[in-house]
Amino acid sequence: MSESANDIGSDAVATDSPRAKTIGDTLLDVKDLHGGYGPIRVLHGLDFHVAEGEVVVILGANGAGKTTTLRALSGKLDATGSVMFGDEDLISKKTADIVRMGVAHVPQGRGTLPELSVEDNLHVGAYIRKDKEVRADIDRWYDVYPVLKERRHQRAGSLSGGEQQMLAVARALMSRPKLLLLDEPSLGLAPLIVQDLFERFRRINQETGTTMLVVEQNAQLALSIADRGYVIESGTISIQGNAHELMHDDAIRKAYLGV
Ligand SMILES: Nc1ncnc2c1ncn2[C@@H]1O[C@H](COP(=O)(O)OP(=O)(O)O)[C@@H](O)[C@H]1O
Ligand SMILES: [Mg+2]
Repeated sequence: MSESANDIGSDAVATDSPRAKTIGDTLLDVKDLHGGYGPIRVLHGLDFHVAEGEVVVILGANGAGKTTTLRALSGKLDATGSVMFGDEDLISKKTADIVRMGVAHVPQGRGTLPELSVEDNLHVGAYIRKDKEVRADIDRWYDVYPVLKERRHQRAGSLSGGEQQMLAVARALMSRPKLLLLDEPSLGLAPLIVQDLFERFRRINQETGTTMLVVEQNAQLALSIADRGYVIESGTISIQGNAHELMHDDAIRKAYLGV
C-alpha cells in the first residue's frame, strides 16, 4: 500500500484502515449556535466540535435542523453564537470567504451545475486555487471515482443520482478543503450505492486527512465511518459520544437504527 496521499486507487476500497489515522487539535468549535429563517427559530444553542482528521456525524430526524446547522456554518444563514474555525470566527463571514478559508459544503440534493460537463464542474470546484496542480487533482478524483472519468464530457445533469453525489463530493474536494461538510449524502440513493459512497468517504478521510462533518438520517452507515457523533433534536444536541457508543445506545438504536 502506497503511503502517498495522492494515491487513492479506485480498486482499493478496503474496510480496514491502511494506516492509523491522526486526530489533531480542534478544528471547528461551535458554541451556542442559534439561527433560523426570519421569525422561525430552528437552532436553539448548539454546542459541538470537530477535531482535525475526524469524521463526525450529526444524526437527526427529518426537520431536526441538520441542514440549517450546515447552512449556518457556511455563512448561508443569519446565525449567532460562535463558530471557531482554527483561530477565526466564521459566524459573521460571507460564504465566499468561508470557502477560501477551507470549508467546502456539499448541500443536500447535490451541489453540481447540471448544464456543465462533469469535467467543467471539477474545474469550477477549483476556482479559488491559483496553483498548477488542478489537473493532477482532477485525475486523482477520477481515480477515486472512475465513473466520473468515463462520463467526463457528459452534462452533470445527465448523471444518475449516485454519480451526481460523487461529482458533488469531488467538486467540493477540488477546493482542497480542510473541512468537508456533507449534507445527507445518502438521500434518495440505493443502499448499495450509499455503502460504496461512504466507504470512499472513509478512504478519502484516511488517505488525505480531510476532516469531515456529515449530517445524516442513515445512522447505521454514517456511524460506521465516523469517529464521533451527535444527535440533534428540535435544534439542540440531545446525545453525543464516540461512534461505537452511539451504535450501542438504546435510544439511538430505537430511533435511528430500527432496532
Ligand atoms: N427556508 C426555510 N424557511 C422556513 N423554515 C424552514 C426553511 N428551511 C427549513 N425550515 C424549517 O426548519 C426546520 C429544520 O429544517 P432542516 O434544517 O432542513 O432539517 P433537517 O435537515 O434536519 O431535515 C424544519 O422545521 C423546517 O421546516
Ligand atoms: Mg436536511
